[in-house]
Amino acid sequence: MFVVSRIASAASKRAFSTSAANLSKVAVLGAAGGIGQPLSLLMKQNPHVTELSLYDIVNTPGVAADISHINTKSVVKGFTAENEGLKAALEDAHVVIIPAGVPRKPGMTRDDLFNTNASIVRDLAEASAKYCPNAHFLIISNPVNSTVPIFAETLKKAGVFNPKRLYGVTTLDVVRASRFVAEIKNKDPKDVNCVVVGGHSGITIVPLLSQLGESFTKEEIDALTHRIQFGGDEVVQAKNGTGSATLSMAFAGARFASSVLDATVGGKKNVIEPSFVQSDLFKDQGVEYFSTNIELGKDGVEKIHGLGEISDYEKDLISKAVPELKKNISKGNSFVQ
Ligand code: 2OP
Repeated sequence: MFVVSRIASAASKRAFSTSAANLSKVAVLGAAGGIGQPLSLLMKQNPHVTELSLYDIVNTPGVAADISHINTKSVVKGFTAENEGLKAALEDAHVVIIPAGVPRKPGMTRDDLFNTNASIVRDLAEASAKYCPNAHFLIISNPVNSTVPIFAETLKKAGVFNPKRLYGVTTLDVVRASRFVAEIKNKDPKDVNCVVVGGHSGITIVPLLSQLGESFTKEEIDALTHRIQFGGDEVVQAKNGTGSATLSMAFAGARFASSVLDATVGGKKNVIEPSFVQSDLFKDQGVEYFSTNIELGKDGVEKIHGLGEISDYEKDLISKAVPELKKNISKGNSFVQ
């Protein structure tokens, strides 16, 4: 009886925290980092946001003070771990964007970041489960193919997982695809909407070029596919040991966060973005999460799109992506279990 009433009271507290959520509060965890700073700057420009809550282990007061001078309506607050800063940053948040963690150095894959970033993401998930269990969680920290399962498993352990509100941010893959295709076809990138499915790492990134209605030579398909799959490496190499994509990633993260706000706060319809979410598409092959276009509604993921018609070339790419994804996902799951 005692246990039951404890659970009931925890559940009612959670229900209370839903009604208390501030629909325009956005928290960025890892806000003083390479992605976090430009991402916070972009979120300061979002008209839906009234409170921007910036958390990092160091330097957030300075970043927050700086961004707070921009003359848009949101109030900006900076928190570090001191004085229960994470709690204050998360309480009542409606959207939590997580770029926290370390970036790649040349020669590293995203999976090489697992050992450092897995525990950072798990700890942030534990705090999120406690302080804002009903928020929408946008995961940027790599390796996304594993950190999304880590976040989900941690929320499940706390009994607060809502698959409609957990998103791996894969927007940068479609941003790159649009840009790279536009370059070789001499088009305006805004007119190129290339669907990219799978995951967010190397061969798990599968561009569906056949759906663009363009004609490509086999060499163009090979080159574009490789460039979209390994575009992140171009930036890692160019930055020469100082990190990976931060500015384009911030752009992509802010675009996805804006779409979530448009659908959940602004009531906008037909908001479609790609995202790595819990999905039944390849569940029969042991893959619980998969990125495709999703339709966002007021509660989060409203509809998961299928792959549509794909070429034999793309079927082959998917057949290589699926076992890799399965490995990445179970690595994340086992870390928490
Ligand atoms: C990228 O794709 C950082 O994962 C990010 O470059």
